[in-house]
Amino acid sequence: MQGRPLTDILAADPAGIARAAALLRQGRLVAFGTETVYGLGADATDGQAVAGIFAAKGRPHFNPLICHYPSAGAAYADIGATPDAERLAEAFWPGPLTLVLPRRTGCRVDLLAGAGLDTLAVRVPGHPVARALAQAAGPVAAPSANRSGGVSPTTAGHVLADLDGRIDAILDCGPCVIGLESTVLDLSGGRPTLLRPGGVAIEAIEALIGPVGRGLSIAQARAPHTLRSPGLLVSHYAPALPVRLDATDLRDGEALLAFGPALPAALHWNLSASSDLTEAAARLFAGLRWLDVQAPLHGLTGIAVMPIPDEGLGAAIRDRLQRAASPRS
Ligand code: TXA
Ligand code: MG
Repeated sequence: MQGRPLTDILAADPAGIARAAALLRQGRLVAFGTETVYGLGADATDGQAVAGIFAAKGRPHFNPLICHYPSAGAAYADIGATPDAERLAEAFWPGPLTLVLPRRTGCRVDLLAGAGLDTLAVRVPGHPVARALAQAAGPVAAPSANRSGGVSPTTAGHVLADLDGRIDAILDCGPCVIGLESTVLDLSGGRPTLLRPGGVAIEAIEALIGPVGRGLSIAQARAPHTLRSPGLLVSHYAPALPVRLDATDLRDGEALLAFGPALPAALHWNLSASSDLTEAAARLFAGLRWLDVQAPLHGLTGIAVMPIPDEGLGAAIRDRLQRAASPRS
């Protein structure tokens, strides 16, 4: 086991938040909890700090970041809102919804954060500590705080396992209550388009603004030139072990990611014994990380996943699992 971490762990109290904000203002990198997953934050207006995020994660520079704001009003200073955006912000902010909108002239966010696009992804996080940080340090650019392509972190311990020594501090906000990333909706073109299913169910969005186009299917996303949102990269959210989906039996050498009553298995993590999709979302990334560590200790070489229904949060869970199961690039 490791000794003392190189990265500072800060308590999510006023002193810890003030310290984290001061680090961000100095151009340093600080991970912090949100209601979805932990983010790796930098001052969004500081190009050098933002470049540090890409370096720490090993993230491709063509994959833009989400900017976090303390309020919708603060976000509107940097993007051009539309009536649909305002209606959605009213209903779902603070919360797990990210809106892609045109950058305003004079937008303070560094171009690198948006990967040079003329649009910007913005969100007001539901977690009060994340909002306090954005209030104290200005817009905070933050992707999920994991190594690029790997499983997103839902505890400070997950962040430390991936990024210890590569970032300055982690604001420990406890386990993330939702456990899946925000829904990403593109409102910058003619028709609203879902770029990533997530914490707000698409059905709830459509109830408010009418039909929403679906982003690329995984098959379409295999052709890189059609990429609208690089978070749609086919292999993503991937544990080290191979993943097999919709398993109704267990094969030799497999550990089990269960949903509902578990199949018999030497090693298993149950997303939700009672088949509750909200509980399953919150336990998904922790389970993938746990199985990745435990399975080899038991001589197992793969992960079989029981079927998950394709409705509500289940759509986002299935999306992440399909990417986890895709061939690695
Ligand atoms: O819940 C979340 O959204 C978390 C927390 C930390 O807020 N953040 C997160 O960030 O998941 P990240 O970087 O892992 O995912 C951001 C997604 C990517 O799929 C990225 O390609 C997409 O948003 N994105 C960002 N800016 C975009 C833009 N201008 N146009 C299209 N897609 C964009
Ligand atoms: Mg991510």
